[in-house]
Amino acid sequence: MTTVLVSGVGQVGGWALEFLARTPGVERIVTVKRSPWQGPSWTTIAMLGSAIEGHTKHLEHRQADLADEEAMARLLGEVRPDAIVHSATVQSPRVLSGAALDPGRRAAVRAATFGMWLPWHLSPAAQLTRAVELSGVDTHVVNVSFPDVVNVAIWNRFGHGPSTGAGNLEVCAARVLRYVMATTGRPAPDIDVSLVGSHALLTRGTVVPHHFRLTIDGADATDRVDLTAALSSWPEVINWHGDVPNSLYAGSAVKNALALAGSEPLTTHVSAPMGRPGGYPAVVGSGTVELRLPPGLTEEEAVAINDRAARFDGIERIEADGTVVYTAESRAAMENLGYRCEAVEFEDLARRCDELRDVYRRLTSEGKDA
Ligand SMILES: NC(=O)c1ccc[n+]([C@@H]2O[C@H](COP(=O)([O-])OP(=O)(O)OC[C@H]3O[C@@H](n4cnc5c(N)ncnc54)[C@H](OP(=O)(O)O)[C@@H]3O)[C@@H](O)[C@H]2O)c1
Repeated sequence: MTTVLVSGVGQVGGWALEFLARTPGVERIVTVKRSPWQGPSWTTIAMLGSAIEGHTKHLEHRQADLADEEAMARLLGEVRPDAIVHSATVQSPRVLSGAALDPGRRAAVRAATFGMWLPWHLSPAAQLTRAVELSGVDTHVVNVSFPDVVNVAIWNRFGHGPSTGAGNLEVCAARVLRYVMATTGRPAPDIDVSLVGSHALLTRGTVVPHHFRLTIDGADATDRVDLTAALSSWPEVINWHGDVPNSLYAGSAVKNALALAGSEPLTTHVSAPMGRPGGYPAVVGSGTVELRLPPGLTEEEAVAINDRAARFDGIERIEADGTVVYTAESRAAMENLGYRCEAVEFEDLARRCDELRDVYRRLTSEGKDA
């Protein structure tokens, strides 16, 4: 019986819940969230949706706070999930991207990069990691919350952590596959897309370091693809800032969770596997992730590409103890927003989360005070 726990039932987690509810082979789904009514309501809706499609899965909601690590450990001990889809965050990036900021402030926020808000994503993931450790439960965590950086910091800190991330490069790989199918007329089994790249490849495009190789029928066809077009305008421009793309990230999280919990090897792309930065082509199954790099590209070279790519998210390096050090450019841009931070340390996560809340409140109240 496959049991999946959904930790953080918001926009991404809500989609993951809906996909799981409709997936054969998942018998039990447990959701975890703090708010008293939204979690039970969404879980009940998913249960009804699954019944409409002929499933009789067991769905239940547990009101819980990841910050109470001992209570979470007890919950995990009771539920004993085969896999956990985790997307809890202190505040979704959607909130800031949807806030009314004047154009100058918006540009300053962009210059500070997505990495500025790392503590909001890292803190709940670190709490979950400690709870899993305390519980002693053997499970596989798929972390959707900024996995390219969060997973690395957590593995460096704890020596274990999420098995994979989700979204990001996985979305790029899907887009390239469909582009190649459309432009060559060949079916998917003839095509082998191999992409190494990071969160920034999805958000900023091919200016970000990456590695791409395409084979069709085993022959190199990399030159036949305009990767920039494939990742941007093809076949239509996507509005990445609405709620809708969350289905993509949730879908890839569910794919990884089920592959990890299952025994059938799945050839795919994964974000942040086993604490590595960025995403890679890989084979996932039976709780393991094996990189599937193209000939001529070593693992060391692939990781180095994604380490360089992390600078586009403001990350200079991640220390052996999990401390995340910012680039000089992102530090300067954050200071421009009144936030001084050279590095994110685990001991300081709670304070950093509070400071960022203050920055966010100040940024969003500026327009109203004027
Ligand atoms: N990898 C990708 O490609 C990708 C793409 C998009 C988004 N993301 C990431 O996905 C994450 C989720 O985004 P979202 O838009 O879905 O956010 P969201 O709608 O705010 O959902 C986050 C959920 O986390 C829960 N949560 C927060 N703190 C918690 C705690 N201490 N204990 C238990 N639950 C907690 C919240 O519920 P309660 O407040 O009720 O607890 C909330 O429902 C973010 O980190 C975002 O950056 C990743």
